[in-house]
Amino acid sequence: MNASEPDSVGEETEAIDADRARPTDVDDILAIQEENLIENGGSLSARFDRTWFESVIRGELLIVARVGEAVAGYAALTSQAAQAHIPIIQAMLRAHPDSRALLHGPICVASAFRRRGVARALLLAEREESDGASILAFIRADNAASRQSHVALGFREATEFEHAGASYIVVAG
Ligand SMILES: CC(C)(COP(=O)(O)OP(=O)(O)OC[C@H]1O[C@@H](n2cnc3c(N)ncnc32)[C@H](O)[C@@H]1OP(=O)(O)O)[C@@H](O)C(=O)NCCC(=O)NCCS
Repeated sequence: MNASEPDSVGEETEAIDADRARPTDVDDILAIQEENLIENGGSLSARFDRTWFESVIRGELLIVARVGEAVAGYAALTSQAAQAHIPIIQAMLRAHPDSRALLHGPICVASAFRRRGVARALLLAEREESDGASILAFIRADNAASRQSHVALGFREATEFEHAGASYIVVAG
């Protein structure tokens, strides 16, 4: 997928290209993840390791968005089996069981590339690959940017659950 839109003064913004990640993207993906973890002042609740990203590239779907040469963001779309070992995923599926749904997330856009449509491009690319399946994700209730962007991009807030002392919203699309 390739998107470029004129900005408010009529110039072309740099195109966003969202497509399947390559194994050589994992270093950039890990760097974006690291700066966005809650413990580093960001809003990502869970850290996924190199092996997990590599296995999603091989066997599931990991989309990266590129702006020029830079990896600007990433999003995973996986089977439930790929994330079934993660306690917060188990809590989400107890709150909102849907055995056929795919799981969207993690999704993260590097701070320098936000509000340019990168998440929109990632989600569009995921949908193109999802063959009409329903898609679920969880978002911390206090992550207003992510909640608003998912609603803006066609998800609905389906229910809420608690996990490890925090509140989360299940979004379905
Ligand atoms: C949430 C996140 C993925 C959005 O990425 P993005 O590339 O900036 O989003 P987009 O530019 O595609 O925005 C699409 C729409 O979402 C909404 N949106 C995005 N960011 C928003 C914000 N900070 N506040 C309110 N609405 C927002 C807007 O409606 C936006 O459309 P608009 O810019 O035309 O108004 C990004 O902020 C991020 O990576 N945050 C840190 C990690 C994170 O929280 N990940 C999600 C965990 S569940």
